[in-house]
Amino acid sequence: MIAEKFKDVFGSPPVTTLFTPGRVNLIGEHTDYNGGMVLPTAIDLGVTIALNPRKDGQVRILSDKFETLAERSLSDSAVDHWSDYIVGAVIYANKAGLLKGGADIAVETTLPFGAGLSSSAAVIVCILKVGRKLSGRDISDTDIAVLARRVENEFIGMPCGIMDQMAVAIARSGQALTLDTESLKFDLVDLPADYHMAVVHSGQFRQLSEGRYKIRKEECDVIKKFLERDDICRITDVEYASLSSLPDHIQRRAKHCMTDHRRTVEAAKLVANEDLQAFGKLMIESHASQRDDFEISLPLVDRLVEDAVKSGALGARQTGGGFGGCIVACVQKDKLEGWKADLLSRHPDAFYVC
Ligand code: GLA
Repeated sequence: MIAEKFKDVFGSPPVTTLFTPGRVNLIGEHTDYNGGMVLPTAIDLGVTIALNPRKDGQVRILSDKFETLAERSLSDSAVDHWSDYIVGAVIYANKAGLLKGGADIAVETTLPFGAGLSSSAAVIVCILKVGRKLSGRDISDTDIAVLARRVENEFIGMPCGIMDQMAVAIARSGQALTLDTESLKFDLVDLPADYHMAVVHSGQFRQLSEGRYKIRKEECDVIKKFLERDDICRITDVEYASLSSLPDHIQRRAKHCMTDHRRTVEAAKLVANEDLQAFGKLMIESHASQRDDFEISLPLVDRLVEDAVKSGALGARQTGGGFGGCIVACVQKDKLEGWKADLLSRHPDAFYVC
């Protein structure tokens, strides 16, 4: 499909096409820029890129989600357009010697935007991996992820952590990626086969660049400055108590970072031991922490999470940057269909993603 469309528009078939999955984070939210652990997994939906390198500096982009062809160049800055992520990836691929010049690119995506499933990280990582394939350069998936994060931080201006890029570059569906965001050491752990990590969209779309993510990051910076350390997820109870002179909401941000990191360390062990009952409880606690301490949930999402559990999930929580988007729920596979029907009948605006 994508190759035919590419040929129709650009006149010749793409030299290469590549798929990169989206991700869902199972637990450990907003810990990835605070030195903590995260536990994402890849989902079956994702992004496919078809690409032909160009010798000049032009970047022409075709998307299955937008009608008009975007015509950009290697000297561009971000202009708040959907094609920014793609042109940014091509510019950084050039910086790293993965591409030499511009490109004709077609993008096809099965990921809903604004869902917290890392569509932007998937697009960027996919283009960098295409560049690696074409150049034959020996660059690791971790280095690809680090470069992809720079596209977001430096080119787009989104101050995100490293989780999404590492997840989409490395994780596989059916396995959880236990990632230490400080050292970038990771492991892949099989998810128990009898359970499904179901992703349900709340119907509330969001954009991280709206600025609320940035505000949380700045609040964490206050804690970092006060404690003179960047890994605020790893503070002890005593260090946490030493924050008592800071405003109440800042103390609660620290509490979320500290407790969600601890829950994630514990959750990784529970997944490895196939104890999903206890894992589900941690998901519920993690959601409460996002709601009460980090304050990144919405009442509508809280109700969806509560009802997901009432309908039979072992646990559920909002996933991703927050303020809407998707929830993830741990559901026994043989109960999945009934669970889905029950939950969606109570939430007509929500929809099942995967
Ligand atoms: C977004 C960011 C990630 C991470 C999550 C919250 O997905 O891109 O780096 O901070 O939010 O866990």
